[in-house]
Amino acid sequence: MGSAILIGLLKSGFVAPDDIYVSDRKHNVLEDMKNRGVHVSEDNLLTAEKADVVIVAVKPYHVQQVLHDIKPMLNPGKILISIVAGVGVEELGKLAGNDIPIFRVMPNTAIALQESLTCVSSNGNSNTSREYVIELFNKLGKTVEIPEELMAAATVLSSCGIAFALRYIRAAMQGGIEIGFGAEMAQFITAQTVKGATELVLKTGHHPEREIDKVTTPRGITITGLNEMEHKGFSSSLIQGVLASYKKINKL
Ligand SMILES: NC(=O)c1ccc[n+]([C@@H]2O[C@H](COP(=O)([O-])OP(=O)(O)OC[C@H]3O[C@@H](n4cnc5c(N)ncnc54)[C@H](OP(=O)(O)O)[C@@H]3O)[C@@H](O)[C@H]2O)c1
Repeated sequence: MGSAILIGLLKSGFVAPDDIYVSDRKHNVLEDMKNRGVHVSEDNLLTAEKADVVIVAVKPYHVQQVLHDIKPMLNPGKILISIVAGVGVEELGKLAGNDIPIFRVMPNTAIALQESLTCVSSNGNSNTSREYVIELFNKLGKTVEIPEELMAAATVLSSCGIAFALRYIRAAMQGGIEIGFGAEMAQFITAQTVKGATELVLKTGHHPEREIDKVTTPRGITITGLNEMEHKGFSSSLIQGVLASYKKINKL
């Protein structure tokens, strides 16, 4: 995710490569980042010292150590952004210091293409920082501010949601292959169709069913397929999948 954010940031031009400092303990990751023109280091403390905005993108079980290591370099003039799932703003404050502006951010993997849906909540320490963080993530897709208690739900709907949507694409492709298309063409047709459906909802603001009504003629082909999908539990299985992920995330 850290690499995806970096790639998106570089593409957006929001930050110059020379102003970006990356640290990781994997040499191959740093080598790849270095080739993109940013500064790299294996030293988290040194990297945090250079940065005005520190983005922490490690697995949840590493966040305590990383924040402990960089804490001496954090102060109220800096911004701390965490994309770590399941670690709340309050806990981040305990680890990093409650006086600094802290943002908990939940992007998805489309961030590398500047198409993320990113949810943001914060400890409310600085309005100027808030505007900056939203501007930053708006360069990487669309950003919504949400109350902290909805972060788990946001993780499921947006971060896991990418995988859910991709599984729909894969399944539709498999159907497409069975009715005559090669895999490549089935993938292109399905993906572009999903993009079109998404745009219809995003650009018109219409409820999906309103757009569905436009293509379901009485006794028609589309309604036959849709009803068969519903008889087999299409909507129900999606809802249950979302709820299962939500239950799981709340258990962790
Ligand atoms: N996947 C998503 O869609 C998504 C969306 C939103 C948020 N997130 C969150 O993003 C976070 C990162 O996920 P990821 O899948 O990108 O994790 P990842 O692949 O493990 O990347 C984290 C990187 O940080 C390195 N690292 C760990 N501890 C370090 C330390 N002390 N100092 C320097 N580098 C260190 C890791 O190295 P090692 O491999 O050696 O540990 C690894 O290269 C997670 O908390 C996840 O919950 C993910």
